[in-house]
Amino acid sequence: MKDEKKNTITVFKGDGIGPEITDAVIEILDKAGAGLSYEIFNVGEAEYEAHGELIPEEGFKSFERTGVLLKSPITTPVGKGFRSLNVMLRKKYDLYANIRPAKSNPALNTPFKNVDLVIFRENTEDLYAGVEELVDKDTAHSIKIITRKCSERIIKDAFEYAKKQGRKKVTCIHKANIMKISDGMFRDIFYEIATEYPDIEADDKIVDNAAMQMVMRPEQFDVMVMPNLYGDILSDLASGLIGGLGLLPSANLGDGYAMFEAVHGSAPDIAGKGIANPTAFLLSACMMLEYMEKNECAGRIRKAVNAVLSEGKHLTPDLSGSATTREYVDAVIEQIVAES
Ligand code: NAI
Ligand code: MG
Repeated sequence: MKDEKKNTITVFKGDGIGPEITDAVIEILDKAGAGLSYEIFNVGEAEYEAHGELIPEEGFKSFERTGVLLKSPITTPVGKGFRSLNVMLRKKYDLYANIRPAKSNPALNTPFKNVDLVIFRENTEDLYAGVEELVDKDTAHSIKIITRKCSERIIKDAFEYAKKQGRKKVTCIHKANIMKISDGMFRDIFYEIATEYPDIEADDKIVDNAAMQMVMRPEQFDVMVMPNLYGDILSDLASGLIGGLGLLPSANLGDGYAMFEAVHGSAPDIAGKGIANPTAFLLSACMMLEYMEKNECAGRIRKAVNAVLSEGKHLTPDLSGSATTREYVDAVIEQIVAES
């Protein structure tokens, strides 16, 4: 975090449900006494059509000043047009650690009551490096890149996190049986680093087996660390275990820069209907507050969210409720006010 502007953050509004959930989250942050000021920018397709840029130059400059970005989802056209803005932001600011905690709320009607895992996803390389080529008109190559530098830093972060948070185990996810050189290196580096943390159990699982195990016995997982693509897929799987994408937050951390966003996308199917669940984005904002050392405020919001989810009267349709975003937000604010 940049010191000079401790209480100012940059906000990218995105598209689809982005604007709705951004307004909801800012309203809650203010009501919870976060004491933040916001530099807010529209980004994405609509901004591109209006002003010729997906992210206005001022938006980048703002993030470079504040070092903290709260980013709502952005629609990425499939197979055409610009590459993912998300991937671009992660690369440009070297936001190498994507941290995605998934914890179940026992009150929700989900098959699993005891999920409490944290995914550390490498965020800058693997098949996301964008090294693709059409070799001839019927043959396409996409190159998977794994480096020692990027593997080491994400694996170290996962162990450091486990140590600080008093977690017991770190599991490495890979497909080293097939990709013996690339994933094999990731796995080898994992066990090298594990020797520096003798108090933390270290084990590994092949990704397809891990997917099955997460569905059969998710409670066996604690901290999990993996290359980019497996992290993308298994974190959506993890969100399914705890009640869906509407609940899963994430942090993207680099040196001096931090970006916080929901795991879900812009949900165009429900955009503008006023029924989006802002919880994932709100919990991402809580991770942001913790990063900014505003733990007390984050705690107030988390407590209010838990109370509203547990009470179950104001759940949005993705959680099998019938509340609108507005009703849910009002319920969370009511809890915050009642507690203060
Ligand atoms: P999605 O996550 O937007 O939606 C998947 C399903 O979950 C949809 O049925 C949607 O309605 C539901 N859903 C997602 N978030 C929800 C919420 N907060 N409340 C209630 N329901 C919610 O994934 P999809 O449809 O694959 O992608 C849509 C667009 O978003 C694509 O252009 C994709 O590239 C982009 N995307 C952007 C991301 C980002 O900006 N970080 C991340 C993932 C996708
Ligand atoms: Mg994803």
